[in-house]
Amino acid sequence: MITIVVGTNRKDSVSQLVATQYAEILKKYGVVSSILNLTDLPHDYIISCLYENVGMNDEFNKIRTLMNDSEKFVYVIPEYNGSFPGVLKAFLDGLDRAKALAGKKCALVGISAGDQGAGLALSHFTDILNYCGTNVLAYRLRIPKISDLMTDTKITEEDYVAKIHKQSKQLIKF
Ligand SMILES: Cc1cc2nc3c(=O)[nH]c(=O)nc-3n(C[C@H](O)[C@H](O)[C@H](O)COP(=O)(O)O)c2cc1C
Repeated sequence: MITIVVGTNRKDSVSQLVATQYAEILKKYGVVSSILNLTDLPHDYIISCLYENVGMNDEFNKIRTLMNDSEKFVYVIPEYNGSFPGVLKAFLDGLDRAKALAGKKCALVGISAGDQGAGLALSHFTDILNYCGTNVLAYRLRIPKISDLMTDTKITEEDYVAKIHKQSKQLIKF
């Protein structure tokens, strides 16, 4: 099973739209996926789910189980202040590394308002995932100036739609 992680807890995020489009593309290749949006984290996540409270929050435990049970992931990562959102690191810190991350496989998609396409964010996040034992697909997708590429809720610029298809096919084979 592939879980697509929306790497921000910002409401109505563009990352969420990209995740939905990615899920539709995977479906075209016959692959079922589920979307985990970090807006679904408990409101008091940092207090109730980390460190001495790891594993104690039933609401978050369902998310931990989803992560444990998934073999592959897509992380859709918006560029925030030159890197990935802090909530995404806090999310990883609340997981069971051995069950949720080690030995798993993932693809990374970076999006940005500016012209970097979250390139640094993807590098920073790759370092962390590799440390935790997740294998990151070499073809990391950077999508800069995202608003120029979208019509309503979808990326419609053909080159980038093709890149999502290319990456999703690689992830399926990975
Ligand atoms: C806190 C914050 C910091 C941001 N920093 C950057 C940045 O450093 N570079 C950039 O190109 N865009 C930056 N953005 C814009 C997002 O990368 C852009 O809106 C992204 O395409 C989609 O983010 P979203 O999923 O939160 O909608 C920032 C947005 C927020 C909310």
